[in-house]
Amino acid sequence: MLSIAEQDYGTPARESETAVTLTIDGSEVTVPQGTSVMRAAALAGVKIPKLCATEQLEAFGSCRLCLVQIAGVKGLPASCTTPVAAGMRVTTQSPQLADVRRGVMELYISDHPLDCLTCPANGHCELQDMAGAVGLREVRYGYAGANHLDAKKDTSNPYFTFDPAKCIVCSRCVRACDEQQGTLALTIQDRGFGSKVAASQDESFMDSECVSCGACVQACPTATLSENSLIAKGQAEHSVVTTCAYCGVGCSFRAEMQGQEVVRMVPNKDGQANHGHSCVKGRFAIGYATHPDRIVKPMIRAKISDPWREVTWQEAIAHAAAELKRIQGRYGRDSIGGITSSRCTNEETYLVQKLVRAGFGNNNVDTCARVCHSPTGYGLRQTMGESAGTQDFDSVMKADVIFVIGANPTDGHPVFASQMKRRLRAGAKLIVADPRRIDLVRTPHIEAAYHLKLLPGTNVALINSIAHVIVTEGLVDEKFVEARCETASFEKWRNFVAAERNSPEAMAVVTGVPAASVRAAARLYATGGNGAIYYGLGVTEHSQGSTMVMGIANLAMATGNIGREGVGVNPLRGQNNVQGSCDMGSFPHEFPGYRHVGDETVRASFEKDWGVHLQSEPGLRIPNMFEAALDDEFKGLYIEGEDIAQSDPNTQHVTAALMSMECIIVQDLFLNETAKYAHVFLPGSSFLEKDGTFTNAERRISPVRKVMEPKSGYADWQITQLLANAMGYPMNYAHAAEIMDEIARLTPTFAGVSFERIDRLGSIQWPCDAAHPDGTPTMHVGEFVRGKGRFLVTEYVPTAEKVTAKFPLILTTGRILSQYNVGAQTRRTKNNAWHEEDLLEIHPHDAEERGIADGDWVGIASRAGDTVLRARVTERVQPGVVYTTFHFPESGANVITTDNSDWATNCPEYKVTAVQATRVNQPSEWQRRFREFSGNQQTLLQGADVFATK
Ligand code: SF4
Ligand code: SF4
Ligand code: SF4
Ligand code: FES
Repeated sequence: MLSIAEQDYGTPARESETAVTLTIDGSEVTVPQGTSVMRAAALAGVKIPKLCATEQLEAFGSCRLCLVQIAGVKGLPASCTTPVAAGMRVTTQSPQLADVRRGVMELYISDHPLDCLTCPANGHCELQDMAGAVGLREVRYGYAGANHLDAKKDTSNPYFTFDPAKCIVCSRCVRACDEQQGTLALTIQDRGFGSKVAASQDESFMDSECVSCGACVQACPTATLSENSLIAKGQAEHSVVTTCAYCGVGCSFRAEMQGQEVVRMVPNKDGQANHGHSCVKGRFAIGYATHPDRIVKPMIRAKISDPWREVTWQEAIAHAAAELKRIQGRYGRDSIGGITSSRCTNEETYLVQKLVRAGFGNNNVDTCARVCHSPTGYGLRQTMGESAGTQDFDSVMKADVIFVIGANPTDGHPVFASQMKRRLRAGAKLIVADPRRIDLVRTPHIEAAYHLKLLPGTNVALINSIAHVIVTEGLVDEKFVEARCETASFEKWRNFVAAERNSPEAMAVVTGVPAASVRAAARLYATGGNGAIYYGLGVTEHSQGSTMVMGIANLAMATGNIGREGVGVNPLRGQNNVQGSCDMGSFPHEFPGYRHVGDETVRASFEKDWGVHLQSEPGLRIPNMFEAALDDEFKGLYIEGEDIAQSDPNTQHVTAALMSMECIIVQDLFLNETAKYAHVFLPGSSFLEKDGTFTNAERRISPVRKVMEPKSGYADWQITQLLANAMGYPMNYAHAAEIMDEIARLTPTFAGVSFERIDRLGSIQWPCDAAHPDGTPTMHVGEFVRGKGRFLVTEYVPTAEKVTAKFPLILTTGRILSQYNVGAQTRRTKNNAWHEEDLLEIHPHDAEERGIADGDWVGIASRAGDTVLRARVTERVQPGVVYTTFHFPESGANVITTDNSDWATNCPEYKVTAVQATRVNQPSEWQRRFREFSGNQQTLLQGADVFATK
């Protein structure tokens, strides 16, 4: 069904340098060659009736409603499948056409329930519209013949209903699943009158391969596929364009509203990151924003064993500020700090780091990027001069070889994965380097040319051996290197990788990847045309995370795969605004725009604007904050929208540090795991309740727009402002746009960014300045940001985390499509229907050796701790490797991860933990303690009248 405020031109736009002029109903129209007659007519303001065509999908030509007359052409061609031609003369309305169209509609309506008044699509149904458009007044065939009116509804999916009685078999759903989503879960079964839509092997949607992206629901012109929220609430009366708050793809949505209530989220077809597509999270999983667990009133308590006490905003803020000042008075200026949130907007993140630097007077600010992509920032800056990815998502459509390293796009970045799959189905080649068989390795109509199934922790060995092949087999793009890169650093690197110890043959014992596959994959990447690398946390979350990022950059530079469309080095950033939180100066050593706090000129510019003296030494990183807390030197922490007790490694170490602090202030939607150790709770706002911007993985700054008032009374940036004022550092922003104006004033890469420009352009990819007023889709064109590209030697150093007889398996971690990170949001939605607990994937060999069967409880012990998960026996993991997700706190995945971290950035080595797995029949000791502690904390909340529904 069409979303409100969207026009559908019937068939996709075509790009061509050749313009074609034709006449439609006597008026001349000029369009790019390849455009359909239907689209040309729509562009000229002429509506041709249609049912099976929609702009999001290639034309199919099945409904025969869009027939037209073309001078000199026999019969009545379908306008959706007929391309324009120069001089063509088209007639869209005539008595003959009207007759034929009415006849077609009569057939449809004779097998369609006439319950329009109670139908969820009433008012937005294209079938209803077309009946009106063709002037249908009677159905000569009656309604009594054979029909499908009794077909049974499928309500298995928690978010949408399939009512086949209303189906007109237009195939739009099937094509949406094929073309847009790339899951190919739907088919039209049987032929003629018996034809019907079937999910997988005629299963329920829930049991089929469907991943609940909703593309078919959006494509359906009738109420056959309808959102349950729409069925329950009825049509929206207005809509607001905003940006998804889940992952780093940054999909644009139209929030369709009834007053302050969201009816449904419809992907925005003008969205520059998603082009009208979405995944199950962004489209459907927003129930957390109104979940009864949501806390909407401030609370304080003296000790974490005390009950929470509801207080006014004034009291909460005054108490928090007084405590922070008391701690500084007693333990010194550097005894407090703040953590910014990658879930919050740029403006909010900017304000938190400003509060820390200007209000607290130190640089003790850090962010969750510490635990995910900090090596990306470091590695890319060292080699190319900028800390971010080099391309836009659309660039993948020009890639010939796609190299995915340590990323699982179909689960982690699903909408981009759909775009990538489109390119792969069109013929691009795929190389996957991953210890596990991710879905992309083999999926309908796609098969990786090479799956380099390396052992966790051996990335650098693999990248060096690929580089070895490129250098020793003469596959370097010498012209590119000579023109664009430093000669000395290249020579040094070339000599290093050429050494025999880096050959695929020598490294095979380390990586476990056969040398022949490495050689073949290296040749393909270097010689297969445009080579584009996409990588994720499987690259960064290692003791050599930064080294691996540099290794990737070396490889792209050596093969000339930088500085144009179709190539590049593309980190798939995890959370919605992790790129933005890094850009906004969330690290203890950097101001916004990645400028070191020790740089006097930069610091002076902030001191002048902010009216304070600023520290010139970097502050504490998150792990250093924990160490300092355990040493009784760090006593107060302001945490905005981040659950460090669940997300950071070695949980027992983290909680010990939290317990040693005197004032922890948590600003969040829920009493998350960290809040259970807090003394002040400030109720935050969801993305639906505020204005601001998010920056996605392609550096795209997109608008976040308030669709409802904040449930706690304040947006997060307003709360930070209140705290700053109470601390004695004045902040007086009247709107988030003013914060962005300040960011632009102080940050050269954001110099041209403003809310007005974002609204006008839809979104902007930074750098945006006088030279690039509309932003920069592709980086390093012509020259690198740092001038010449710098190669860095990337010696492989094995991780200290060794498998031993006691811990013989390697545990590695990852994500799943339906849940998100710590799960605070998705666990409070119906997404639990797909994944209600974290499981331990174990290879059949390892399971059999240990007497573990599918579904058994398994104890997993590491040097840091132990936990218990249910087993899933699967060949997706290789022998010797076990895998789990970390979306549920009671799973305790981070109880077992260790303190090991990246040498350059302290990013934890989440991806490699030596463990033992044994069959058990009860929870671990930690899990028992966790349940007891969590239960107590919930009890301490019971007296407070602070929930959204109360
Ligand atoms: S919801 Fe998405 S995956 Fe499922 S059938 Fe529809 S288009 Fe396919
Ligand atoms: S379910 Fe909707 S989109 Fe699919 S064939 Fe039926 S009417 Fe068309
Ligand atoms: S792909 Fe990411 S940004 Fe897009 S809808 Fe899904 S979670 Fe949201
Ligand atoms: S819209 Fe052209 S044949 Fe259906």
